[in-house]
Amino acid sequence: MGRDLASVLIPEEDLQAKVKELAGQIDVDYAGHELLIVGVLKGAVMVMADLARALHIPVQMDWMAVSSYGAGTKSSGVVRVLKDLDTDIEGRHVLVVEDIIDSGLTLSWLLNNLRSRNPASVEICTLLRKPDALKVPMDVRYVGFDIPNEFVIGFGLDYAERYRNLPFIGTLAPHVYGGE
Ligand code: PRP
Ligand code: MN
Ligand code: MG
Repeated sequence: MGRDLASVLIPEEDLQAKVKELAGQIDVDYAGHELLIVGVLKGAVMVMADLARALHIPVQMDWMAVSSYGAGTKSSGVVRVLKDLDTDIEGRHVLVVEDIIDSGLTLSWLLNNLRSRNPASVEICTLLRKPDALKVPMDVRYVGFDIPNEFVIGFGLDYAERYRNLPFIGTLAPHVYGGE
């Protein structure tokens, strides 16, 4: 494990402080409303769990699982729903919670999909965003950290399904994914 990690990009305390800060903003913005937070499996599990516990407004939690078609590891923007919401979101205030926005293609598709269901509102909360990788313009209401365009793991984010359970965000050593 130690040798696979190149560096700690965001330590656990900084993540926890940022999630609480985001929750404070969300509490203020949605005061007087009931909010449905929607986590995008699997990466958003950690940020959902911590964000939900830091919120003081009444919230419900639901989940979607999506998969991008196409060869390779890059998102193609054509998305298949593996698990849909259990909740009817018509007239609801919806906050989509993501671990990271990379190209933005997954979320861009998902937002169009959710908006077609006539919710009262749809906003995005992402822990991480890579501005240099973004391929589609996107209005993101809550952003934890803008990060460089590097391969990051931990706090929900995986490389080949590993490292999701790390309590911090790290960068992966090049030898792990086939570099030198
Ligand atoms: C990752 C990440 C985001 C998405 C971002 O999910 O959790 O959901 O990719 O990429 P994009 O902005 O380029 O579309 P992934 O598809 O790896 O599934 P996972 O959450 O199960 O790891
Ligand atoms: Mn994901
Ligand atoms: Mg992944």
